[in-house]
Amino acid sequence: MEELKDIEALLVEERTFTPPEEFVERANITDPGIYEEARRDPERFWANFAQELEWFRPWKKVLEWNPPYAKWFVGGKLNISYNCLDRHVKGPRKNKAAIIWEGEPGDTRTLTYFELYREVNKFANVLKKLGVKKGDRVAIYLPMIPELPIAMLACARIGAPHSVVFSAFSSKALQERTEDSKAKLLITADGYYRGGKVEQLKERADEAAAACPSIEKVVVVKRIGREVPMQKGRDFWWDELMRDAPAYCEPEQMDSEDMLYILYTSGTTGKPKGVVHTTGGYLVGVYATMKWIFDIKEEDTFWCTADIGWVTGHSYIVYGPLAVGTTSLIYESVPNYPQPDRFWEIVEKYSVNIFYTAPTAIRAFTRDGEEWPNKHDLSSLRLLGSVGEPINPEAWMWYHRVIGKERCPIVDTWWQTETGMILISPLPGITRTKPGSATFPFPGVEAEIVDKDGRPVPPGRGGYLAIMRPWPAMLRTIYGDPARYEKYWNQVPGIYFTGDGAKKDEDGYFWIVGRIDDVINVSGHRLSTMEVESALVEHPAVVEAAAVGKSHPLKGQALTAFVILAPGYEESPALVQELRNKVAEVIGPIAKPDEIIFVPDLPKTRSGKIMRRILKDLAERRELGDTTTLRDPAIVDEIRKKMGY
Ligand code: WTA
Repeated sequence: MEELKDIEALLVEERTFTPPEEFVERANITDPGIYEEARRDPERFWANFAQELEWFRPWKKVLEWNPPYAKWFVGGKLNISYNCLDRHVKGPRKNKAAIIWEGEPGDTRTLTYFELYREVNKFANVLKKLGVKKGDRVAIYLPMIPELPIAMLACARIGAPHSVVFSAFSSKALQERTEDSKAKLLITADGYYRGGKVEQLKERADEAAAACPSIEKVVVVKRIGREVPMQKGRDFWWDELMRDAPAYCEPEQMDSEDMLYILYTSGTTGKPKGVVHTTGGYLVGVYATMKWIFDIKEEDTFWCTADIGWVTGHSYIVYGPLAVGTTSLIYESVPNYPQPDRFWEIVEKYSVNIFYTAPTAIRAFTRDGEEWPNKHDLSSLRLLGSVGEPINPEAWMWYHRVIGKERCPIVDTWWQTETGMILISPLPGITRTKPGSATFPFPGVEAEIVDKDGRPVPPGRGGYLAIMRPWPAMLRTIYGDPARYEKYWNQVPGIYFTGDGAKKDEDGYFWIVGRIDDVINVSGHRLSTMEVESALVEHPAVVEAAAVGKSHPLKGQALTAFVILAPGYEESPALVQELRNKVAEVIGPIAKPDEIIFVPDLPKTRSGKIMRRILKDLAERRELGDTTTLRDPAIVDEIRKKMGY
């Protein structure tokens, strides 16, 4: 496979960084023997973490593995909101800040564990009053405001799986996901701030709700205080419902394997998949990784800059941080508003200790210049994290030097919506890091670089990143589509194929290169090229479209779309704009192609299959691979000339 050859060509970084002594002295885990211990008895390893949590009824068996179906902590009963709230409220964390929130205009809110507990209990009662029962799905389409985690935890408290849809997604995207989950209730807001502008969220939510018969009621949070349409009998204001809600709601005793949430993510087809996570194993997975990878101490303030609409926010803004009882910071908006130092201003203002962000943001910071972080006191920081895509060594070094002042370890964490928890990452008190490498699988996790038959490949050789045994926070199914779930494990029975290409170096370090399927990562946002293609062909001017990812210095990857026009349409800058807007309307602004190229035909095989490999070469403007199997080899030269290279 050509992609795998590209992986081998990847440079091996020679620099290494040992954990600083002062960090190791206080680190939660420093014994490298833990890897061997976990390997010998992974079930006991996970059970030890599970024992630190509260169960209404203990589990009978740690793992039941009938490939590809796993059950973790079988027979155990628990509630994740109880573990994130009640457990702390009973002790000295009662009045500790659980959530510190900063809005874009600079307004702030702090919720202690007790206050958060109160709000969650009340909203759980509101949900019940609105007719939501255990097992009913609730769609949440909220911006980054405290009501988002409150709503999630309230759903978890009564056993109603939530389906959070990223607030920057379009109404069509919300509609598609809600049609699939058949959510009964939708929670949204009157709007939110984004780069100084007000986003009209309620109007978008209304469009989706009108098209989804499953939605019976809509709860609306007042974030902006603007006038929005409210449909009588269907729409209710959050604050009015909360006013007389009872203060306590008994947490539902959930089975370890009961569904906690659905989160839609892009696969290789045009239809997003509803990744299903369950309760017990997920909680144990996020709890363990929070403790050991982020090395949480009682006095820490933890800031993960992701949006809660993505899995990173689910696991490391909401469930993980609250499970370990830390203070989780939430910021409403973008890094560069009103100026490029907003993040650093926030770090200084709240004395953030652990900072977790994405390589795309780091690359943008390097471009803005060091003067922005240098204006602020960043001395509170003691640990830095990265997630979402491979971090290039230059960005890693900048992060280490300019933000970490060469004293903060960096944890480059690899994982996916499907994995629920971080699976590959340094342990900051143990691992010697190499810039650009996610280093080693977490203890108890068995990852390998394999060929298509599941056989490990030798060091230095490119292959498929695979997980060789089940892990607690793994997805359990794809909502309503078990066949699609089984595909992850079917390539070689019992082995989970991640869809990523990677290699190991001579020292056993993992170097992840990125997706080898038709999923791409634009600014840390996961998209499927097929989704973009189907959005484009919805426009009457488009007969056929093919979208591919190409490397982009800031976004990691960007989209190039090749489009065949319908008769009667002429290419023009206005049409390019229209097509880009079409994609924004169907998916969301993040999915807009950077480049649209009008072509007379697409490179296809004799059987009519589009050769994406050649389109990728074209998009990258590099030498073309083998074109002899094409039905019409002349077409690629024509496209190439048109692109001017
Ligand atoms: C990529 C985000 C390299 C990878 C948590 C994966 C990474 C996809 C890293 C999942 C990393 C995530 N190094 N690549 N540290 N972290 N990825 O589902 O391609 O939005 O398959 O989950 O992001 O994206 P998702």
